[in-house]
Amino acid sequence: MRTLRTVSELRAALAIERRAGRTIGLVPTMGAFHEGHLSLMRAARERADVVVVSLFINPAQFNADEDLAAYPRDEAGDARQAEAHGVDVLFAPSTEEVYPAGAPTTEVRVRGLTEPLEGVSRGRAHFDGVTTVVAKLFNMVRPDVTFFGAKDAQQAAVVRAMVRDLDFGIEIVTMPTVREPDGLAMSSRNVYLEGADRENAIALRKALDAAEAAVHDGERDPATVARNARDAMRAYRVEPEYLALVEPTTFAPVSAIDGDVLVAVAARVGPARLIDNTLIRKNGRH
Ligand code: PAJ
Repeated sequence: MRTLRTVSELRAALAIERRAGRTIGLVPTMGAFHEGHLSLMRAARERADVVVVSLFINPAQFNADEDLAAYPRDEAGDARQAEAHGVDVLFAPSTEEVYPAGAPTTEVRVRGLTEPLEGVSRGRAHFDGVTTVVAKLFNMVRPDVTFFGAKDAQQAAVVRAMVRDLDFGIEIVTMPTVREPDGLAMSSRNVYLEGADRENAIALRKALDAAEAAVHDGERDPATVARNARDAMRAYRVEPEYLALVEPTTFAPVSAIDGDVLVAVAARVGPARLIDNTLIRKNGRH
């Protein structure tokens, strides 16, 4: 595995692969790898000839209340894990390499989909930061296929909309959420959870379980399903920042449950802000 730090080195290395007819897979990350990241690397290894993992903690997607400086960093550990998973190129540029002129004057903004849920909680600049950096990474790497986690369902939908609307011509694969044995969705931010906070963090998964159970029992009123889900969290003394039943591609609120529905939840548990979601399918599978 090679670790590359500049766009020009990356382009030179990938041009050779592309000329040889090899397909390129990209896994965009902010590092501090856990099984969720590793599952994306495994999927990329299976699907593409050349696997590129980007590791860049993107300042543009953090708001003023979020502690960018405290975001977990372990590049040496990440490099070891990426290498063990057959990654060919770890692209780990500096902030100056990605934003040589400071904040970019050109941004990519997806309208609509970015406005509810995370768009309210983190502010709309969050997704603008994500789409701008992901568009830049797509142009730097020019992958054939790219891999995103269902844990960040709204992010995956926003990136999908960007790729469609701007004709990137990149295949997007969304991989299932990887969880701890007790159901907590893996996240780089879980390192902030200690003691009782770690135990209470399963409140999000419990809320999703309650929502699934209510729908499977025949409940069709989203407000009732949401109430059951909120009640399930209360046992852990966790209040959701949002808990919503939305249409899975538009993220518009559903007024009745008569097709696939995505239940999305965000909550602060101690020092960590956590998100989770589940897709409840009309035919009962999820
Ligand atoms: P990061 O939080 O490092 O996540 C990188 C990828 O891993 C994302 O696609 C995310 O959805 C996926 N992921 C995280 N936890 C997961 C889990 N438990 N199971 C499966 N996949 C999981 O998301 C970002 O970075 C950034 O916003 C980025 C897209 C890199 C742009 O800066």
